[in-house]
Amino acid sequence: MVTIRLFEPKDVNFAAELIRQEKWGHTAKDVRRCWNFEPEGCFIAEQDGERVGHVFSVNYSTVGWIGLLIIQQSYRGQGIGTTLMRTAMNYLRNLGVETIRLEAVPEAVTLYQRLGFKSEFDSLRFYRELRPGRTCLQAKDEEIHQIKDDELEILGKFDAECFGANRLKVLQGLYRDFPQHCLVARNDGIMGYIMCRETNSGFWLGPWVCEEEHPEVARDLIVSFLHALKANSGLCVGIPAPNTMGIQLLEKLDFSLMSRSIRMFWGKPAYSGNAKENFGIGGPEKG
Ligand SMILES: CC(C)(COP(=O)(O)OP(=O)(O)OC[C@H]1O[C@@H](n2cnc3c(N)ncnc32)[C@H](O)[C@@H]1OP(=O)(O)O)[C@@H](O)C(=O)NCCC(=O)NCCS
Repeated sequence: MVTIRLFEPKDVNFAAELIRQEKWGHTAKDVRRCWNFEPEGCFIAEQDGERVGHVFSVNYSTVGWIGLLIIQQSYRGQGIGTTLMRTAMNYLRNLGVETIRLEAVPEAVTLYQRLGFKSEFDSLRFYRELRPGRTCLQAKDEEIHQIKDDELEILGKFDAECFGANRLKVLQGLYRDFPQHCLVARNDGIMGYIMCRETNSGFWLGPWVCEEEHPEVARDLIVSFLHALKANSGLCVGIPAPNTMGIQLLEKLDFSLMSRSIRMFWGKPAYSGNAKENFGIGGPEKG
C-alpha cells in the first residue's frame, strides 16, 4: 500500500541519492535548503513502509512551484508519481495559490497534462566548461559588487517585478549558502543581479535577472561573475526560450545548448513575470 507523509530531515540523504541517480546535480545541502523553503510542502511516498519517492513544492503566495519529483525506478508506472503530484497541488491550493508552475522533462509532459497543466514555453539548458584564464568579454563592472545583507529586501522587490512573485525566501537561502557567488548591479536602484550555487557536477547559475531595457547589465553581470569564478568544472544555466537576447549572449560566451524542458502552468494564466528579464532561472524546482 502506498502512503504519503511529510518529508523529514532524516530523508535528506534518501532524496540526494535519488537525485544523484537522475544526474540532476543537486547536493544534500540543496535538498535541505529546498525543504527549508517549504517544510509543510515536501512529501515522501512509501510503499509498505519503504521510501520510494518524493516531491517538493514552494509557495510564493499567489504562485506555487512543484519540482524534484522522483520515483525509484522499480516503482514507476504504478501511479505513485501522480499521487505525490496531487498531494503537492492540494497543499498549494489550500494555501490559496491560484497558479502552479513547473518545468517538465519531455517524458513527463503527459503526466502533468493529465493533471491539468498546460505548456507555456521551452526552458533551455545551456552549459559551458570553466577553465581558469579562459578569455571572455571584458566587463564594465564599476557598478557591480557582491550582494550585501541590507540589499536583500530591495532585491526581493526588484526580483518580484521580473519573476512575477515574491521569492525572497529563495534569494535569502541562496545568499546564505553562497554569498561569494551573489552579485548585484546598481546605479540609483537595482538594475540586475546574479546568483549561483555549487552542485555535484559544477555550478548552477541562477537566478540571473535584469531589466529588459538594459541587456548590457546582464552581460556585465555574467562577465564579472565568470572573471571572479576560479574553477575548473562546468557551469549550467536554464533560460526561458522567449529570452532571445539572453540566448544570444550565452552563445557569444561559448555556452552550448544541452537540453530543453517545458515550462507548464496549472490554474490561472497569471503571475508569469517577464521571461525576457529572466536570464537564468533559480532552478527547475523553484522557478
Ligand atoms: C516522472 C516520474 C516521477 C513518474 O512517476 P510514476 O510513479 O512512474 O508516475 P505515474 O505512474 O503516476 O504516471 C506514469 C507517467 O509518468 C510518465 N513517465 C513515464 N516514464 C517516465 C520517465 N522515464 N520520465 C518521466 N516521465 C515518465 C508518463 O507520462 C507515464 O504515463 P504513461 O504510463 O501513460 O506512459 C518517474 O518516471 C520518475 O521518477 N522519472 C525520473 C525523474 C523525472 O523525470 N521526474 C520528472 C521531472 S519533470
